[in-house]
Amino acid sequence: MPAKPLKILQVAPEIAPYAKVGGLADVVGALTREFSEAGHDVRSMVPRYGFLQQDDTWEARDEPLAVHLGGGKTEFARVWRMPYRDSPGGVYWLEYDRYFHRHEIYTGPWGSHADNHERFAFLSRAAIDYCHQEQWYPDVIHCHDWTTGFVPVYLNSTEFGTPVAHAATVFTIHNLQHQGLFGRETLDFAGLPQSLFRPDCLESVGLVNMMKAGLYNSTKLTTVSQTYAHEIQQPELGCGLNHVLKFRAADLIGVVNGIDVKEWNPATDKLIPATFTADDLSGKAVCKAELQKAFGLEEAPGVPIFSAVARLFDQKGLDLLAGIVPWLMDSMNIQIVLLGAGDPGLENAFRDLAAKYPGRVGAFIGYNHKLSHLVEAGSDCFVMPSRFEPCGLNQMYSMAYGTLPIVRSTGGLVDTVEQYVEKRGTGTGFRFEHATGEALYYTMGWACSTYYDRPDEFRKLQHNAMTRDLSWKASAAVYGDVYRWAVEARLRGLGIQTGQSLSRAPFKVAG
Ligand code: ADP
Ligand code: GLC
Repeated sequence: MPAKPLKILQVAPEIAPYAKVGGLADVVGALTREFSEAGHDVRSMVPRYGFLQQDDTWEARDEPLAVHLGGGKTEFARVWRMPYRDSPGGVYWLEYDRYFHRHEIYTGPWGSHADNHERFAFLSRAAIDYCHQEQWYPDVIHCHDWTTGFVPVYLNSTEFGTPVAHAATVFTIHNLQHQGLFGRETLDFAGLPQSLFRPDCLESVGLVNMMKAGLYNSTKLTTVSQTYAHEIQQPELGCGLNHVLKFRAADLIGVVNGIDVKEWNPATDKLIPATFTADDLSGKAVCKAELQKAFGLEEAPGVPIFSAVARLFDQKGLDLLAGIVPWLMDSMNIQIVLLGAGDPGLENAFRDLAAKYPGRVGAFIGYNHKLSHLVEAGSDCFVMPSRFEPCGLNQMYSMAYGTLPIVRSTGGLVDTVEQYVEKRGTGTGFRFEHATGEALYYTMGWACSTYYDRPDEFRKLQHNAMTRDLSWKASAAVYGDVYRWAVEARLRGLGIQTGQSLSRAPFKVAG
């Protein structure tokens, strides 16, 4: 019997490359592409922010979308469909200017937007009202992080008994540190009953916790690596929700992210000055020269460049790098490149280091997509001393470009970077255990000595890294399984027979 394609609604605050703060955007985009190319009906609903450029591929329904909030209040929004890049899937931009016509997604110049609880409760509610309006009832609603945590709550409470409540929910944790904690009035605004304000639903420490709402109410949970799935069940990285995750452990699946190999491919990349492959790195040398020029470094082809591209926040541990730069400069013949923005203190620290070591340290403070490709392509090593890292994408971009990652052994960095074994020449990078400047220093020293003293092994590691399959292929297949399990579990929970066609719904990976 031919298997039935799934109707998949993704609800997310970001989608690459249009609205992106971090890797969540890349994942939402990749899933839109992978599943729609595999024949499923994929719609990804994301707010229409003020910085988005509308073009003639956008189409709006004439009729506005009525969004039903608490206290019998109805607000009118508009949904614009845009084809997602070159895939059959679509982005459904949710237009509601009062909440979304802004230049920042979560945080303005004075910190988090004060009405984030209303903004993201609105997104969740609108996603459900969209299904009702279109009479398009998804098999699966895939939610991403705390901003979408109310979607499964609506399905289990206010929507119960309506056709949209048949949808299974899959909730992906990209970063447990951000949970969306707000006052109880959030429930009144959202039109959710105060009876849900309980520790076994969405209350924690006397507040509404939108992440916890997603964790308790979704059919299946995923997070973005197997190691992080284990870590968040322990107190150290559980951010106060480890007991909830332990309770739901049987439904929690770690699925490591892939990378978009159409965009991050050194053999075809249009954003770098010369392309290259695992067997011919001559183009990488051209990129290195260009990178040295772009960051005002001495044009020294034989000196290894260690780089970092990241949001400058505590999670990423780049304060550890800033702290050891003088020590590195005194003892190793290396260059350092940083591309990042975030904590003003850390931004200034890197600016000061670039001024103190001209020609050897370069910093670009800001967000620059094109430059991030050049940094990945032109560097020799990539530094990621993360204190925690649910998955991390940059270590994989680095590997694809033959830039060896130096990573702390945490989360997805453990699952994606294989430790170098000297003399055997196996591995794809260098790992260390402790989040200290010393550990980072010695591991950078190890990479530096490999570069200078064992060039054949360095080359071998580059080859290993560049020939790894980092695509979405395997992980998308696992998501396909998770979707099917979630559909079956949801329908079983509602007492509905699933039958053959649903239990063997297809997943064929494109390409
Ligand atoms: P996170 O989502 O925690 O920030 P990831 O490694 O998953 O970490 O994803 C980060 C993404 O953001 C990558 O695609 C990376 O290239 C990009 N990125 C981060 N900072 C910058 C920057 N300053 N300029 C360009 N791209 C950046
Ligand atoms: C989060 C995590 C990062 C992960 C990304 C995409 O932002 O910090 O490790 O790669 O989400 O899942």
